[in-house]
Amino acid sequence: MTIYSDYDLFAWVYNKHWGESFVQLIFPLIENLILQYIPPKARILDLCCGTGQLAQMLIDRGYQVTGLDGSKEMLRFARENAPDGEFIVADARSFKLPDIYHATVSTFDSLNHVMTLEELTSVFRNVYAALRKGGLFLFDLNMEEGYMTDWNDNFGIVEEDHVCVIRSNYNQEEQIAQFDATIFYPENGWQRSDLTLLQKCYSELEILSALEVAGFTEIHSYSYNLQSDLIELTTDAGRAFFICQKPLETNVS
Ligand SMILES: C[S@@+](CC[C@H](N)C(=O)[O-])C[C@H]1O[C@@H](n2cnc3c(N)ncnc32)[C@H](O)[C@@H]1O
Repeated sequence: MTIYSDYDLFAWVYNKHWGESFVQLIFPLIENLILQYIPPKARILDLCCGTGQLAQMLIDRGYQVTGLDGSKEMLRFARENAPDGEFIVADARSFKLPDIYHATVSTFDSLNHVMTLEELTSVFRNVYAALRKGGLFLFDLNMEEGYMTDWNDNFGIVEEDHVCVIRSNYNQEEQIAQFDATIFYPENGWQRSDLTLLQKCYSELEILSALEVAGFTEIHSYSYNLQSDLIELTTDAGRAFFICQKPLETNVS
């Protein structure tokens, strides 16, 4: 399997415009669902860590963070943004790490980039294998309502030194969302780069079943309201948070 690297061309724009904002929004949820339950200086795996802003916030609070991502360019920024983090280029669908982590987090709909349920189940198995017994796993995903509401849009960013135009659309029949970016930047005149990122929409039931198949227990799904309070997940939620645990005792049969 090739390593997922679709963000390489997008990395510097992501670092500038996206890397900080979502993490600030959801950090209270990470504190609420994960950090209060793990020891000080615990080891945390930031799966699909992107440009490392979350890794640095966790390091600032004393945690030992390993960031894993398929994009070397995203990780180049992550190493700058979180110089004390450990960063690994690997694919979420195939990575293997020893079972030393107290928690794994995967934020900003990273796992929607995994395009089949079979592969998503492999991701969950890999996370399970890397967690200590009792370890926690938190991730968020875009849900159908989010794609229907937010992913049929065009917008642009215009700055002194770059212009970025985004087009997004959602194919409800295929349950696939597409994000096209065209970036112009000055280099011997203006240069243009184009990239496409795809996401797959999963139902709550599919995700819960895949987590169970991978061995997780204590599985809960949430959404959040405008005040960032956790609320019960309902079908009108655009984004869902899933939290689950590797059991303290694994059954030997
Ligand atoms: C939307 S960004 C989120 C980055 C970061 N978690 C954040 O909250 O800002 C998605 C990230 O997931 C990574 N990614 C997607 N699929 C991946 C895969 N199969 N293996 C490794 N990384 C992957 C991309 O390279 C990208 O850095």
